[in-house]
Amino acid sequence: MAAATVKPVRLTGPAALRVGFRFARDPLQATRTAFDTWGPFVILAEGLPFSKRARAVTLGIPLVLTAGAAFNAEILTNPETWRGVSVLPGGPKNSAARRMIAGLPRLTGEQHAYYRKLLSPPLRRTSVEALGAAIAQIADSEAASWPIGENLDLWDAVGRIMQRASVAFLFGGDNEQSRVIIQRAGRMMELKWGPGAFALPINLPFTTYGQIVREAEQLERHILQWAAAKRGHPDDRDLASIIINNPDATGRTPDDAALVAHIASLFALSSEGSQSALTWTLLLLTQHPRVMATLRDELLSKLGGASPSLDRAGELPYLDAVVKESMRILPPIPLQIRVAQRDTTIAGYGLPQRTRIMINTFLTNRMPDVFSDGDVFCPERWLNITPNSFEFPVFSAGPHLCPGYWFGTAAVKIALAAILTRFQVDLRRRARVDYRAQPTLRPRQRMDVRLRRVDDNTRAVTPLAGTIRNLVKLPP
Ligand code: HEM
Repeated sequence: MAAATVKPVRLTGPAALRVGFRFARDPLQATRTAFDTWGPFVILAEGLPFSKRARAVTLGIPLVLTAGAAFNAEILTNPETWRGVSVLPGGPKNSAARRMIAGLPRLTGEQHAYYRKLLSPPLRRTSVEALGAAIAQIADSEAASWPIGENLDLWDAVGRIMQRASVAFLFGGDNEQSRVIIQRAGRMMELKWGPGAFALPINLPFTTYGQIVREAEQLERHILQWAAAKRGHPDDRDLASIIINNPDATGRTPDDAALVAHIASLFALSSEGSQSALTWTLLLLTQHPRVMATLRDELLSKLGGASPSLDRAGELPYLDAVVKESMRILPPIPLQIRVAQRDTTIAGYGLPQRTRIMINTFLTNRMPDVFSDGDVFCPERWLNITPNSFEFPVFSAGPHLCPGYWFGTAAVKIALAAILTRFQVDLRRRARVDYRAQPTLRPRQRMDVRLRRVDDNTRAVTPLAGTIRNLVKLPP
């Protein structure tokens, strides 16, 4: 459907409020219901008086829900008008929290292009390909410490692999300082999107806003100390060293504020997407034993115990299909937000400056013209489809397309292979899995699994309860 032919449905007052409340509780279900009821272009205008995030609406500035490739293309190819927001929270003027949101996602034009080029060497395909065996070593050594037969919190365990891989290969080495920074950056994201985020922005020790302000000060201190040690030691495989030891887009030495902005957002974005992708892939596999068996057969027969690497990707089509299908059905970043920098139009409909618009990857990935039976986990579909990045915006699209695509997918595939060739993975009995969506799709509570040896075929599928079942149609 071409965006230009779609008319918006404009909701105000109680109707807008209802959708707003549902959105605050569960953005994926809320946007799905809105899509089923009103279509792919819904404007919430006037009527949400309760939160900082929705303040734009209170002032008569709309929040727009869209879905589908045509909208994605119109918005994502025009970042000068539709500017990205940071995954980090922001804060009062002149605070560390405010300085941190000025990283790559918020830049546009020449400045953005300059930094994308500068940061590309360690992230490009050839650089990542060379890291296959080293990433596998980290995944293997972490997985080797996982206990057989005891509860293991999958989100945490997978997170350790992804954080270690990121700091080791994108930030100059796995050490205490870089681990502290990546963990604190993750904590900042949690605070931005967690339950307290809807409270008023009052800077007191016990408010979420106050916690954000203080956490950001700590994080800034760690980043600047770490940056001081890297100054004068250029390393073109280390994203932080590249930022620190090169001039900024105007040719000047970057000041502390610029270092903090770039390094904080790079850390925040570098591991949680892969953590989310791998966690949900493993969960989906526990519920789809036929897919799990086919994948394990491919891994054991093609790799014979060796680590998968990207140069052998052609020999592992099912691994590729499983990871794509998992990210389609449970996208690591299910919604992307953009803010209008000027009065503009979408699908020919006028919208004022500061309008917020949602790119909905979750719904786009279920559009029936590309993905039939969108709620069904079916890796085989990828043997016949090649959607473009607007139809499948899991890594976004346009100038802000994720630069970590090669690293992220390699890390997920390699770690998945390391885990599945070592263990059978079951959900803990009577497991309940509820999700939280923003910015990454993650479990609300511990996601306990139990591991068996790979040759132990004794268990049947453990049924799954919780809100995650609203997003996936599981086999009977
Ligand atoms: C499976 C893993 C990953 C997924 C699904 C993913 C997804 C995404 C998405 C959807 C965006 C756009 C967000 C928005 O505009 O709201 C994005 C941006 C970004 N990602 Fe990733 N990402 C992954 C891994 C990585 C890794 C490993 C890095 C390494 C540094 C990374 C770095 C970035 C950066 C710097 C941006 C901002 C780009 C810009 O604004 O130009 N990502 N990612």
